[in-house]
Amino acid sequence: MASTLPPPAPARKRARLTRRTLRSDRWWLGPLLTVLGLSGFLLYGLVRALQQDHYWVSDYHYLTPFYSPCLSASCEPGSAALGTLPWEFPWFLPYAVVSLPLLLLFRFTCYYYRKAYYRSFWQAPTACAVREPHGTYTGESRFPLLGQNLHRYFFYAAVAISVINSYDAVLAFLHGAEGGFGLGVGNLVLLTNVVLLWCYTLSCHSCRHVMGGRLRSFWNRPVRYWMWTQISRLNTRHMLFAWVTLGTLVLTDLYVALVASGTIPDLRIIN
Ligand code: FES
Repeated sequence: MASTLPPPAPARKRARLTRRTLRSDRWWLGPLLTVLGLSGFLLYGLVRALQQDHYWVSDYHYLTPFYSPCLSASCEPGSAALGTLPWEFPWFLPYAVVSLPLLLLFRFTCYYYRKAYYRSFWQAPTACAVREPHGTYTGESRFPLLGQNLHRYFFYAAVAISVINSYDAVLAFLHGAEGGFGLGVGNLVLLTNVVLLWCYTLSCHSCRHVMGGRLRSFWNRPVRYWMWTQISRLNTRHMLFAWVTLGTLVLTDLYVALVASGTIPDLRIIN
């Protein structure tokens, strides 16, 4: 049977601009801030993942999301809520060796981040009415950008990891200084981070598609329609959640690192 799909768009020449840009505004500011923000996050994350220290506060069961789930046999006692593998990892392998790459791939293939780094790092397109260095445009129809289509699968991995992060945050409430329920600033930090991570994950375009895609009509599907409506609301703020969660991940990790290293005490509200 003949395919009904349209043929792939041919590689087209880019707009021919006689000058580097026709714009007079500060169009470069957005891409510059994107480069600084994403590079800063990646650098911080790399340093912390390789540090393999100050990731766990045993008194209150605070585990930084950068080390969750902790899988090396050398994870600090109590920090591996899901158990560990039988081996100690070499220094260059992060303790969260499964979740970190999946989370990075989830963000790397995110529709919003693609837009951001295509404009800032990749320069294709750089901005409207700005000459770009590439002669042709093949979009995401060829390797390696064809791999961006895997985003829908990384979404499921991100949901699983958000569940684990939520479990960590709830466990911390059950390990106060006296063994029962406890509440400290660290609990609020972990909880805020996890709520915002859910906002980012559920506002994903793939999640919206899971809720409402491949349907001709929501007729007779009131629950799915309600969920699709809520996800669509979150989806309008996806860019905001993308940036806010980069900040909360760093702040949460930093807070746990400072308490774990004894630099600051955890302010307790209920011991
Ligand atoms: Fe951004 Fe899916 S579109 S996480």
